[in-house]
Amino acid sequence: MTSPRRTAVRRNRDADWNAWPVAEYLDENYRQTHPLDRGVIRHHSAFYRQFAPGGLARTLELGAGPNLYPLMLAAGASRRVDALEPSAANLAYLRGQLASGPEESWRPFYALARTLDPTLPDTLEEALSRVRVVPGDASDLADGHYDAASMNFVAESVTEDFGEFTALCAAFVRAVRPGGRLVAAFMERMPSYRIGEGPVWPACPVDEPALRAVFGPRTTGLRISRLAKDRTLPEYGDTGVLLLTAERPAP
Ligand SMILES: C[S@@+](CC[C@H](N)C(=O)[O-])C[C@H]1O[C@@H](n2cnc3c(N)ncnc32)[C@H](O)[C@@H]1O
Repeated sequence: MTSPRRTAVRRNRDADWNAWPVAEYLDENYRQTHPLDRGVIRHHSAFYRQFAPGGLARTLELGAGPNLYPLMLAAGASRRVDALEPSAANLAYLRGQLASGPEESWRPFYALARTLDPTLPDTLEEALSRVRVVPGDASDLADGHYDAASMNFVAESVTEDFGEFTALCAAFVRAVRPGGRLVAAFMERMPSYRIGEGPVWPACPVDEPALRAVFGPRTTGLRISRLAKDRTLPEYGDTGVLLLTAERPAP
């Protein structure tokens, strides 16, 4: 008799993030505004509209990847947005976008963002001038460095290990000062996934109770809402998107 084979849980370090397929990822997700993006933009825009224009000295985008829209959304309230990213491929894309100008496909995202938040700078270029590309990962974050932090499709999309997912979320919370604010989006119940025909990337399926279990003890004012599954996107096995806002408690 043979014992059943146990599939090893793939952790964050087991994936080659430097080889992230930037072009395929953008083609699948961000060449046009999908309903999911419009929902996330509406949610995050309301978050940033709570602050005075330029009222946040320094904010974080954790695991920025090649997605420019969370960076633009922060540019009304934030005087400096740090786009923290470990992947060489994503860093090269971000640096290119900032140095040579954004691809045209990002303009409809900015048009929508400006409709929702007229305090955003006149041009996308001006908004992106507030962004600094910072190589590194969640383990490089200093305690309490930021006034606000944003994380989109990262903690649940980079490991199969729920303990590691929890540690990433904890680092995200600790990155803001006490009283600092958090905004995030998570794929709901997404298992490990492929981009195009490429390798399988590790993911940890999470639902609202899982987010409450992780963020509840670490934050105050936790609010979670949900977007329906977007069937205009490739089938990633998710059931929708969970949107979160919260605050790091004062000591
Ligand atoms: C699914 S992508 C999401 C990218 C982007 N935030 C977006 O909205 O499309 C996951 C991102 O997390 C990054 N990442 C992987 N491990 C990380 C870690 N330990 N800390 C921070 N970011 C990480 C990857 O390089 C990739 O850019």
